[in-house]
Amino acid sequence: MSKIELKVGEAPCALETYEPVAPDAPKVVQFSGVAKTYEGGPKGSFTAIKDVTFDIEDLPKVGEFIPILGPSGCGKSTILRIIAGLSPQFPHTTGSVLVNGKPVTGPGPDRGMVFQDYSNFPNRTVLENVSFGLELAEVSAADRKERALDWIQRVGLDPKKDAHKFPHELSGGMNQRVAIARTLILEPRIILMDEPFGALDPITRHRMQDLLIELWRGLEATVFFITHDVAEAVYLGDRLFILSRSPGTILHRLKIAPPDRPSLETHRTKVFQDSVNAVMALLDPLETST
Ligand SMILES: Nc1ncnc2c1ncn2[C@@H]1O[C@H](COP(=O)(O)OP(=O)(O)O)[C@@H](O)[C@H]1O
Ligand SMILES: [Mg+2]
Repeated sequence: MSKIELKVGEAPCALETYEPVAPDAPKVVQFSGVAKTYEGGPKGSFTAIKDVTFDIEDLPKVGEFIPILGPSGCGKSTILRIIAGLSPQFPHTTGSVLVNGKPVTGPGPDRGMVFQDYSNFPNRTVLENVSFGLELAEVSAADRKERALDWIQRVGLDPKKDAHKFPHELSGGMNQRVAIARTLILEPRIILMDEPFGALDPITRHRMQDLLIELWRGLEATVFFITHDVAEAVYLGDRLFILSRSPGTILHRLKIAPPDRPSLETHRTKVFQDSVNAVMALLDPLETST
């Protein structure tokens, strides 16, 4: 891969080309030459991703945050759902996909997914939504309730006022807090987020970014995070993947300085804006020419 000039004007930005720091470390997720061809859709046989290759090293006490950017339809959701073990994206067609050194055989408690659409159960209260996974895991009712109330609090909801509300009584941001609590209560080692804040207003979005960073630091999990928002990707990410147009493959791998201040405050700094502009310059030719 060629080195990318990531300086905009005179200002150095907080980005460099990614190089593995511990190439020999065991891998959390490993894709080698992965392609996915969908058969029998309206387009006949259609290859959504090709030759997707990356390693996420398992470093002690570190979970990496990996945003994925790329033009619509380039295969971002396909990659995430292959990791999650969700069909019809799973299984992939060629290449190899390993999670903690083993082939994926389907969904599992080691991987948790958060979608853009509020995926909470409409007929369950906040408390029942958040404790759903523990119910499946046959955790006792008392233990379930205690842990769910703790997570309701940790995602910034009020355990007293909100626990017994139903999803239709909550705002979009509150619903996404519930969805995040529902996933994180199971303490997955890998968190898969597909445009989770895509439907939120900008201020709510900044708050959710701050919340996510805080929770993620506590969990030390690996996060894959699809977004269309370049600033969001640069704010949240340690390592950023930029995919090509369809069939998607990884065009750029960038290393980003981790967030050291709240989202809104970071967004106002020049070095941050320069980084965002540099990433936009890489994305722009992919979005415009067809
Ligand atoms: N089940 C499917 N059958 C056929 N084609 C699909 C299926 N799912 C996705 N695709 C196609 O694969 C491509 C990549 O889809 P997707 O991974 O959802 O892209 P992205 O998330 O980057 O927008 C798109 O062209 C989409 O239409
Ligand atoms: Mg998608």
